Amino acid sequence: MSNTEQLREMAKTLVTPHKGILAADQSPRTMNKQLEALGLPPEAELRRKYRQLLFTTEGLQEYVTGVILHDGTIRNHADDGTEFSDLLIAKGVVPIIKVDKSTVPHTNFEGEVVTQGLDGLADRLQEYYDMGARAAKWRAVFTISENTPTEQNILFDCMTLARYAALCQEAGIVPMVEPEVLFSGSHSLERAEEVTTMVLQKLFEQLQWNNVDLEGVILKSSMVLAGSEWSEQTSAADVAQATLRTFMNSVPPEVPGIVFLSGGQTPQRATENLDAIAELEAQEGGFPWELAFSFSRGLEQPVQEAWQGKDENIEAAQAALIKRLQLNSMADQGTYDPSME
Ligand code: 13P
Repeated sequence: MSNTEQLREMAKTLVTPHKGILAADQSPRTMNKQLEALGLPPEAELRRKYRQLLFTTEGLQEYVTGVILHDGTIRNHADDGTEFSDLLIAKGVVPIIKVDKSTVPHTNFEGEVVTQGLDGLADRLQEYYDMGARAAKWRAVFTISENTPTEQNILFDCMTLARYAALCQEAGIVPMVEPEVLFSGSHSLERAEEVTTMVLQKLFEQLQWNNVDLEGVILKSSMVLAGSEWSEQTSAADVAQATLRTFMNSVPPEVPGIVFLSGGQTPQRATENLDAIAELEAQEGGFPWELAFSFSRGLEQPVQEAWQGKDENIEAAQAALIKRLQLNSMADQGTYDPSME
């Protein structure tokens, strides 16, 4: 198989129907904050134990095609010395590596950030490929306010995403391009749709301009949501309509799949919105892309609450993960039942 064919195969595998992707790629800093919120010390050993809990969950592979890992996690191992990446591969789960190096302020553009990490990326990708990674993730962040995002900020981040995607494909790694339009803010649903459409159109223009093979790409997107501080109620059906309309207006049909981040919604709300999206998709007779979940907080919040850092709670925490995965798998088919919560 040629490199292009392999990438296309892998991209399709990642969006196998009714399965999702577990985003366990919190940076050590974010993971430490999550530990501290549980009243636990921000220690490397606790972070390792928590990842081990997630990856050794029995039946994980029935609900996820891949797991997104941070650099520190792909280099880490389980108690018995098995590398986390090998543990996942043995289950038939694809290790996905987060390769961006987070955001920094966008000089001269107040209130906006740009994502860094292109320097040395080709070498890092080669190393991650050798460790078993077959997909990589890069997150760009857009903030909605009266004056943002600016055209310059969108262009810069989309050019960067396109460059990263090209380097990934060259290395035999499927790029999971993630332009996140933040949920925080006081914007309306219409404004979120306008901004997300603008960002996605620019992203695909840049991907095509850089000769990235769209059949070997996964889009990781935010759902189109009114801001967390917006005064009016929006229903899951409203979110579904705005989200699918946005994709129809911006995502080329060649793209095999779109996966969602949860973005700070409650786990229940993220599942409910995913379900409404799947229902609308079925009503409309299907869309060109496979749609799936790739939540971090939306999957892991209940796991962390059940775990509390205690070995005796590992079983309960793994049960909480499987339950959330099952509910999201149902939502992916439009058959989520809130009474199962
Ligand atoms: P959330 O689901 O918590 O928004 O995280 C998404 C993400 O991009 C992590 O890979």
